[in-house]
Amino acid sequence: MFNKLKEINVRPTPFQFYTAQELWTDEHTSKKMLEYHLNEAVDLSSRNKDFISRSVKWIASHLGIDSNTNIADFGCGPGLYTTLFAEKNADVTGIDFSSRSIRYAKKVANQKGLNIDYFKQNYLEFETEKRFDLITMIFCDYCALSPSQRKTLLAKFYSFLKPGGLVLLDVHSVNVFNSKEEVALYEFNQLDGFWSSEDYYGFLNTFKYDEDKVTLDKYTIIEKDRTSVVYNWLQYFDQDSIREELGKNGFEALEFYSDVTGSIFSPDSLDMAVVARKAKYT
Ligand SMILES: C[S@@+](CC[C@H](N)C(=O)[O-])C[C@H]1O[C@@H](n2cnc3c(N)ncnc32)[C@H](O)[C@@H]1O
Repeated sequence: MFNKLKEINVRPTPFQFYTAQELWTDEHTSKKMLEYHLNEAVDLSSRNKDFISRSVKWIASHLGIDSNTNIADFGCGPGLYTTLFAEKNADVTGIDFSSRSIRYAKKVANQKGLNIDYFKQNYLEFETEKRFDLITMIFCDYCALSPSQRKTLLAKFYSFLKPGGLVLLDVHSVNVFNSKEEVALYEFNQLDGFWSSEDYYGFLNTFKYDEDKVTLDKYTIIEKDRTSVVYNWLQYFDQDSIREELGKNGFEALEFYSDVTGSIFSPDSLDMAVVARKAKYT
């Protein structure tokens, strides 16, 4: 028992393990995630319906979306943004590794008669001959990636964008990092059956890495016949750190907002949206 508890409470090094696949594609949790995506009232998995429609309206008017625009949405989930982009006549590609979400997104596209290219794939391995005017990655999925994964992703964005093409992404700000506290919780059937349809005991260990501005929510789920561990990493940014990271990877950060509806940037805001342009390497 002592050794098991010690193992549960062990603090890994930042981004030591990557378990996003288990979280988003597991038979049971992906079903829960899809329910959250499709719950129009809450900001879980996807933001609420009102936010998304305001967001797409702003993206369309501010960044310009019409029948000549090629857009790729990385981590598109069940297609809440891609569907609306396609309804604005853009040529749209969506990438997500959740087969449940991609199946749902394709069903909606069929029902609405929309022609959207969906790929059920890890976006870190995605390849395409297509070239885009705009790449989006929305709801802070960028923050879940390690520095080397983010580098890989930005290199892909760079090669998939047309000259002068744009990236729109949102990230959590350091304000959220500052308000977080380390915790160790233990709960029966934690998160209301989120982790399994069978009974389980769930441990949550939240770790903060001050120097790196990273947090980890480490979930250890103990069922009768198996134990699984899911690592939810988050990297937090301020304007300088995201500008520098984009700059090192060939992008010029053009504009900052508080969110992807175009709300005016505030240094106090919890999230931050950035529009960056593919620059010429000098
Ligand atoms: C927080 S959700 C956001 C979904 C969507 N952007 C939205 O705002 O409605 C993150 C999405 O990214 C997907 N995802 C996470 N890591 C991925 C990866 N490595 N490759 C492909 N999809 C990934 C998940 O399956 C999930 O659908």
